[in-house]
Amino acid sequence: MIKIHATRLQSLQLIYTLYTDSDFEEYKRQAMDYEIMKYISGKACNEEEAKQKWEMIMTANTMHNVLGYYSVRRIEDNEVVGLAKLVYHGSERGSLEGKENGLAEVGYSLFPEFWDKGYATEITEYLTEFAKTFDDIKEVVGIIHPDNAASKRILTKCGYTLFPTIQEEGKQPSEWYKIKLK
Ligand SMILES: CC(C)(COP(=O)(O)OP(=O)(O)OC[C@H]1O[C@@H](n2cnc3c(N)ncnc32)[C@H](O)[C@@H]1OP(=O)(O)O)[C@@H](O)C(=O)NCCC(=O)NCCS
Repeated sequence: MIKIHATRLQSLQLIYTLYTDSDFEEYKRQAMDYEIMKYISGKACNEEEAKQKWEMIMTANTMHNVLGYYSVRRIEDNEVVGLAKLVYHGSERGSLEGKENGLAEVGYSLFPEFWDKGYATEITEYLTEFAKTFDDIKEVVGIIHPDNAASKRILTKCGYTLFPTIQEEGKQPSEWYKIKLK
């Protein structure tokens, strides 16, 4: 069952709290870790790059109530396992395009000690269900690096299918996996 609070969501084992300004240090631990960033930006961020990404996250988090980037904690012991996001596509750029077109984007990124425990699957299932509660979200996309086999598996398990992807010049290779909600 989905519990919806103003800024907190909860699935079976995890709690999701929207990032606020004071969470930069937590995010930075992710952004500066190569193992985590390998399939996201292809390299670990330096402090300046982490700040730039954080500004985009804060843009997304101030655009729409409840949607955004969440710090994800394990209910059992309150450990931070990583981050998750459900945003209207393009929110990080301040764009309203995703909202107008009914397209949301799901994402997840966990600290390595929490990999292979089914958490990213739980996150994706849960945020996809959560997306269904929004009348204006018609589709959700997960955008992944083609070599990210674990992510591919997660999205496929959750009902997402490969969608033709336009490769933007100068950007990391990507594949779009989509699910139609309405
Ligand atoms: C990708 C990531 C989110 C996976 O999280 P996770 O909690 O370990 O994933 P889960 O345990 O829910 O599920 C992983 C699934 O992929 C499978 N898998 C893992 N590695 C795999 C590989 N190399 N090839 C094929 N399948 C793989 C697992 O067996 C599991 O499937 P199963 O449940 O059918 O056995 C995690 O490794 C991570 O945070 N990586 C760094 C950031 C990142 O890449 N984020 C995604 C950006 S799109």
